[in-house]
Amino acid sequence: MELYIRDGILYEGLISTTYREEQYFAPIGFIKNNNRVFIKVYKGGLLEEVVLNTSLFALNIVFKPDYYAAFSLKKELGDESVSRKTWIRGQQPLPILTDSLGYLVLVKENIVDDGEYYDVEFRIIDQGVNSDAYIEPYSRCYGSIIEILVYATKIKALRSRAQREVLSKFLEYIDFNKNTAYKTCSQEYKTLVDKILRWIREWLGEE
Ligand SMILES: Cc1cc2nc3c(=O)[nH]c(=O)nc-3n(C[C@H](O)[C@H](O)[C@H](O)COP(=O)(O)O)c2cc1C
Repeated sequence: MELYIRDGILYEGLISTTYREEQYFAPIGFIKNNNRVFIKVYKGGLLEEVVLNTSLFALNIVFKPDYYAAFSLKKELGDESVSRKTWIRGQQPLPILTDSLGYLVLVKENIVDDGEYYDVEFRIIDQGVNSDAYIEPYSRCYGSIIEILVYATKIKALRSRAQREVLSKFLEYIDFNKNTAYKTCSQEYKTLVDKILRWIREWLGEE
């Protein structure tokens, strides 16, 4: 099998690097165009600091929502909750998830401050596939959990600055995806969804 990433589609993956001698992973949306990858980094989190101060990254191609949950809600879930085998690439301590389907190796080329976020451009210098990875059918369960996580992390980051209407919209999207998750997920993932919903209520001061 080969890794095939189309141009112009907004994909999700896990960006990783070594920062202050520790492995760093975070979910990220990315678009490829030829041998370049583009991401938007919202200001205010550790992700911003890492991207500003590092130049070599891996982009892990992962389907399972467990990774997106563990690495976006590190304090709440603990990123030790997922098995994380990594390997070091060449001379550079670049962590790559061995449970990923594949990966890109990226060098930061350009960064533009866009006010609310940074537009960051990378050059792809290498890529690989994990020949041990298993193939699992597409599931709306996974999609719905990733949608919930996208809006949960937005609420967490923006809760003190965003207007009430913006937060209400995010809660509406979460509610919609919660219904899909309850219809399509196993008990293990329904429990994860319930935990995320509880944390959201805590962040909003409702519990
Ligand atoms: C599926 C998914 C996609 C995300 N995409 C982005 C993104 O494109 N840009 C961004 O700044 N944050 C994105 N986030 C949020 C960051 O991953 C999140 O802020 C970060 O993991 C928080 O960790 P930190 O404490 O290391 O900053 C995304 C989260 C999820 C769950």
